[in-house]
Amino acid sequence: MFDPVELLSQPVTFPFSGRTAKNRFLKSAMSERLATFSTFDPYGRGQPTEELVRLYETWAKGDIGIIVTGNIQIKKDHLEATGNTIIDRDLPSNYLQEWAEVARAAKSQGSLVIGQVNHPGRQVSINIQPYPEAPSDVEQPSTGGVLFGRPTPLTKEGIKDIVHRFAYAASVLHSAGFDGIQLHVAHGYLLSQFLARRTNTRNDEYGGSLVNRAQILLEIIAAIRQEVQSPSFIISVKLNSQDFIPEGLSAEESIMVATLLESAGVDFIEVSGGAYEQTTRSPRDKVMLFFIPRSNLELTPSDCKPYTVETREGYFLDYAELLRPHLNLSKIVVTGGFQTAQGMADAVSQGAADMIGLARPLTAEPFLVRDILRGEKKKAKGDKFPESPMLRFVASEAQIAEIGNGQDISNFDNQFHVARFIAKMQKEIPAAISEALFS
Ligand SMILES: Cc1cc2nc3c(=O)[nH]c(=O)nc-3n(C[C@H](O)[C@H](O)[C@H](O)COP(=O)(O)O)c2cc1C
Repeated sequence: MFDPVELLSQPVTFPFSGRTAKNRFLKSAMSERLATFSTFDPYGRGQPTEELVRLYETWAKGDIGIIVTGNIQIKKDHLEATGNTIIDRDLPSNYLQEWAEVARAAKSQGSLVIGQVNHPGRQVSINIQPYPEAPSDVEQPSTGGVLFGRPTPLTKEGIKDIVHRFAYAASVLHSAGFDGIQLHVAHGYLLSQFLARRTNTRNDEYGGSLVNRAQILLEIIAAIRQEVQSPSFIISVKLNSQDFIPEGLSAEESIMVATLLESAGVDFIEVSGGAYEQTTRSPRDKVMLFFIPRSNLELTPSDCKPYTVETREGYFLDYAELLRPHLNLSKIVVTGGFQTAQGMADAVSQGAADMIGLARPLTAEPFLVRDILRGEKKKAKGDKFPESPMLRFVASEAQIAEIGNGQDISNFDNQFHVARFIAKMQKEIPAAISEALFS
């Protein structure tokens, strides 16, 4: 019998950068939406604020091995959400000083800090960007009252420009003191769109075979290496285990992509899954997204083991177990659904995960990891929400804003806080979205 705390306290050293995380925990990316935003002036956007610094100062005190920021956009008018942070060479400033403040705050207690960088592609509300760009002109179906514009396929010059923008963002993060970058290749955003046949119908060198569909990703990694000369700069990827939609990335394809990433020198692959488009399918599928309950998972690789995991935590552990023998060097981080120290330690001891990624538990309890490692807690706080993944998402978003503003964090394990939050949401958000959230 092993001691979960001892196992989870172990440091993890990365194969390519040689950097070491102080323990096996990673705070997974969560879009903070705490940057400046102006609707009419695209130049008045994306600047990290003091709220953002306070947020990372708080997580730093939580003794987390690696802290990954929420997704940072590379184009000022292609945003995942209003209030996103942006590193765009077309803005008057790269906000280097502000990013240095964020890095200082996040690293103040010895965590490694990594900036997650993203382009939403077609997955951007029509209210933010009616003319999205994507690998192909395959429109995203409306989801939960959110409408999406028909995307314009990227030209080859457009793709090259995007490659250089990712590399530029890496160089700014490196100069600001970040320990590494994470490419967002999950949840249906641009790089995910390139990987999936469903959204990539190109017939040039960026479409067709899986290797072609992964080409942009490999070019970005090569461009980052060129731009950031330091070998100790961590390059990581958040990758969908599968998209869970027809002609989306399959688990088998995802494993092949992971091996390409290892060959390209990616230190760790953070495993997630799903895309917003899923939520447009059947009412049952509404509970999917990346908060997918394990009982809904279907793995497709030919060497898939029989399905046995109802009681185990971690939505994507089965996939991680399949992936493990295909990787010799890159570390595996598994994110999604972890609740108990025992469940997290089991995922490590059984060989599926090198590190455990946590998102929502760390908005409710920013010091959860510290408390687990001190042996003071064995389990994340529960909540009293009705079954609604979108509601849980906005609840975490609200907690992020509370931490950033220095306010008390809402306790959603309390029925009264939950009722008050739902009532507030019903007042504040348009009917279509409200239906999607509460139905
Ligand atoms: C408010 C919120 C914002 C999120 N933003 C991002 C993001 O910017 N990038 C990303 O890769 N995942 C994002 N996620 C997904 C989480 O990183 C994570 O994969 C998911 O919440 C499952 O982990 P959990 O069960 O520990 O919450 C977000 C999740 C939440 C709740």
